[in-house]
Amino acid sequence: MDTQDKWWQKAVVYQIYPRSFQDSNGDGVGDLAGIVSRLGYLAGLGVDALWVSPFYPSPMADFGYDVADYCNVDPLFGSLADFDALIARAHALGLKFILDFVPNHTSDQHPWFIESRSSRDNPKRDWYLWRDPASGDGPAETRLPNNWMSHFGGPAWTFDSDTGQFYMHSFLAQQPDLNWRNREVRAAIFSAMRFWLERGPGGRGVDGFRMDVLWLLIKDELFRDNPPNPGWQEDSSSFGRSLPLYTANRPETHQIVAEMRSLLDSYSDSAGERLMIGEIYLPIDELVQYYGSSVPVLRSDGRDLTNVAITSPRLNGAQLPFNFHLIQAPWKASAIGQLIRDYEAAMPPGAWPNWVLGNHDQTRLATRVGPELARTAAMLLLTLRGTPTLYYGDELGMTDGIIPQDEIQDPAEKNQPGIGMGRDPERTPMQWDNSASAGFTTGSPWLPIAHDFRLHTVETEDRDHASMLSLYRGLLALRREHTALLLGEIYDVTPAGDSEFPVLAYRRSDGAERIQLLLNLGEEPQTASCLAGRILLSTNASRAPVRVSGGVTLDPREGVIVLLD
Ligand code: GLC
Repeated sequence: MDTQDKWWQKAVVYQIYPRSFQDSNGDGVGDLAGIVSRLGYLAGLGVDALWVSPFYPSPMADFGYDVADYCNVDPLFGSLADFDALIARAHALGLKFILDFVPNHTSDQHPWFIESRSSRDNPKRDWYLWRDPASGDGPAETRLPNNWMSHFGGPAWTFDSDTGQFYMHSFLAQQPDLNWRNREVRAAIFSAMRFWLERGPGGRGVDGFRMDVLWLLIKDELFRDNPPNPGWQEDSSSFGRSLPLYTANRPETHQIVAEMRSLLDSYSDSAGERLMIGEIYLPIDELVQYYGSSVPVLRSDGRDLTNVAITSPRLNGAQLPFNFHLIQAPWKASAIGQLIRDYEAAMPPGAWPNWVLGNHDQTRLATRVGPELARTAAMLLLTLRGTPTLYYGDELGMTDGIIPQDEIQDPAEKNQPGIGMGRDPERTPMQWDNSASAGFTTGSPWLPIAHDFRLHTVETEDRDHASMLSLYRGLLALRREHTALLLGEIYDVTPAGDSEFPVLAYRRSDGAERIQLLLNLGEEPQTASCLAGRILLSTNASRAPVRVSGGVTLDPREGVIVLLD
């Protein structure tokens, strides 16, 4: 067994936010049949795996991240039959399907929670985190059990007057947290995972899960107060008031991740491993622990093969704990160079890196770094060692939409207005063509279409060899052609430390194939040294594919890929 032949190591993941991708029935909200109708575009783009954000039955308090039934499809998005059609068509086109799974919390409308809140002695009471009011004076509902805060503002506790206790929620009050210390909860969630692993024509099911807020699953058993955050500022989210010492990244979480992984491994078959991607916002040293620890590799006769037949140990955690550090890093060559080195150095033996530039919770890439650097960033994402994840519309250079006050949808913004918590801007509808609603819907879209959408539609960019879409297609095609880019080593990453030199450089190699990356992140032209070779691709579409020897003079914000002799 070689770690280098896993499908998910070679794959490019494409995230679809289903509300916003393609509407098929004119209600203004995207749906599964809409995604099916666009699979040809995705296969043609050259991505390998689709991760689709939640489409479970849900009251939509957090747009589907509040799940009311883990084993069905909300009528807004279609039906299980639509899901079957989607996965069948995706598989027929060679695309893997990754389901967004939300294990940390359910909707308050989930039957489990309805039962749990019905009485203190209900058998499901312990499925959630219930606590008595703190002792002291004043009405019970004001006596919070501790100082834990919700990520979406305010306390993480809501009082249930019928039973006289508080329940805990890391996000909205409509999203109560499950009690992962309870064995029945684990069994119920694992059974829902099995449902999707087996669902679909021929029982092949989903190829993996993107696990929502994986690092939050377990909370402190003693419910201790979180320590105050000395760096907190009054005008920022109230969540930052304390440091989440007792509500996040608890050591026991790793054991749950290992249980999930072992369930997934029991489904490995000729189509390959089932994948676990973990949503984890943590510093690098803590993040990489989610790869898990090494476990012995046993032969069927029980002999330990760990040190015999394989070069890399088998890890028992998530194959891909999402690495969001490029989203948070300053867009400076030395900072990114340092990040790449730190991340690579932190990787445990046998682990495979991954990189992300955007998702449905983050300001869009082209808005963060500007339209030109977004091109260089695309080259970076698709040439670093590791599995990249793309966010729908970034391949067109979509920017954040402008959402009028009275059209705001996101509860994170509604709960804490005016401090930049809103995620609607990065969730505006996909821009397919130049018709009135960008080809997204025949109805009235749930979020406004970007006002300048005609500059960045598939229709416009498809015909333009200098467009962002053409650049992405070129990059995705190059990855497939060159194993150095797909699976090769990464080395000679510069600049280092506090250097001001704005050209980020690194090499990839596999066997005899060596590729040099040179990315000028600065505003001025720069000359960077380079061994003899041939430019395969530039972010500047007018650059001819010339030979280079000794050095390349890069335009401002230009990146090039050079195949060395
Ligand atoms: C994750 C999702 C986010 C959601 C939150 C609560 O962070 O990415 O969109 O609001 O979990 O489920």
